[in-house]
Amino acid sequence: IGRKILHFDSIDSTNIKAKEFAQRGEEEGTVIISEEQTKGRGRLGRSWASPKGEGIWMSIILKPNINPMDASKVTQIGAAAVCNSINEMGIDALIKWPNDIVLNRKKVCGILTEMSAELNIINYIVIGIGINANIRKFPEDIKDMATSLKLEIGNTISRKKLVGKILNNFEELYNELVNNNSISKSLNICRKKSILLGNKVKIISRNQEIIGKAIDITNEGELIIETENGKREKLISGEVSVRGL
Ligand code: BTN
Repeated sequence: IGRKILHFDSIDSTNIKAKEFAQRGEEEGTVIISEEQTKGRGRLGRSWASPKGEGIWMSIILKPNINPMDASKVTQIGAAAVCNSINEMGIDALIKWPNDIVLNRKKVCGILTEMSAELNIINYIVIGIGINANIRKFPEDIKDMATSLKLEIGNTISRKKLVGKILNNFEELYNELVNNNSISKSLNICRKKSILLGNKVKIISRNQEIIGKAIDITNEGELIIETENGKREKLISGEVSVRGL
């Protein structure tokens, strides 16, 4: 992972670019990074602010030989790799299942995993990682929810150093999936660093709201919620949005 890094000054979205490259036969492990994205994309059709030189906007091309149903496992690997890497820089980031990294309860990183598959075969997976590293100012409408590492710790952080750590951590955790078809190491990190487990949460899934206590993350990476009437629900990461209460 990361033996080949393609670095751009400005592109629409590293995920879009990575998908084009993957489609044209680019090998597994190639990383696309851009200083700026003009059409950065978030989950659930949202946009993702990606100002020039202030963040880490990158996507990794993967071609694992796994069931397409298991593609979301890559998101958990990414979350664990990013959280560990930020922690290794001495910063106490936590994971908000399934794909956010938070610091002081505000989001510093989001992950967008996209896949192309035919029948039961994965053509490629692109995992897009957006880290608000050194952003100095957020728009009024998101400034209560989003922050940057720089704003929280007061120092500019080395994006190069952090990218290096992420690629190393990601490679190690991803190898567990490829070699042993397991993501137990990643899930243990996701559990240990979870900001949700043990707490009351509100889930919005297909226009339905569920309120309950987050109990555990299963070995498949699903979040278990216990609702007020004691019923347990398993949530897969697909189209859910989770809020701490
Ligand atoms: C989210 O939390 O909604 C996911 C945000 C993902 C943003 C990253 S930045 C690099 C990559 N390219 C994109 O267009 N999006 C992802």
